[in-house]
Amino acid sequence: MKPNIEISENNLKEVATLLNTLLADEYVLITKTRNAHWNVQGQNFMELHKLFEGQYEAVDNIIDDVAERIRTLGHFAIASLKDFLKVTHLTEQDDDFTDQKKIIQTLLNTNEVIVRTLRNDIVAVGEKYKDLGTADFLTGILKHHEKTA
Ligand SMILES: [Fe+2]
Repeated sequence: MKPNIEISENNLKEVATLLNTLLADEYVLITKTRNAHWNVQGQNFMELHKLFEGQYEAVDNIIDDVAERIRTLGHFAIASLKDFLKVTHLTEQDDDFTDQKKIIQTLLNTNEVIVRTLRNDIVAVGEKYKDLGTADFLTGILKHHEKTA
């Protein structure tokens, strides 16, 4: 049985594509955050190690929510590293995880890219595709990344 939530098939497809790109971005972010948690060294090691752990746990919850939102809209979530790297806005090049300042700068830049992307996405999803539920959902994720940044 297919629910009719009064969003056209085409709009649902566009929103799902956008959500799959967000899913890929969140996967790249969680990988960088785990890298930070594992490889950070030096002064304040324990504080930073724990800070990064809290951050990747939060991103892990977001990842699950995004994938389930895609399924709610009747589409499939991409779920392979190959596919994530194909669609993400982010890159994994040039990241240095040996220096605390550089690690924090990398995580900040990554959160900023996601914030900027989400702000555009929310407008498109709400106004162009008329999916206010997803626009509200994405606003919650935007606020999370703004706070982390
Ligand atoms: Fe750990």
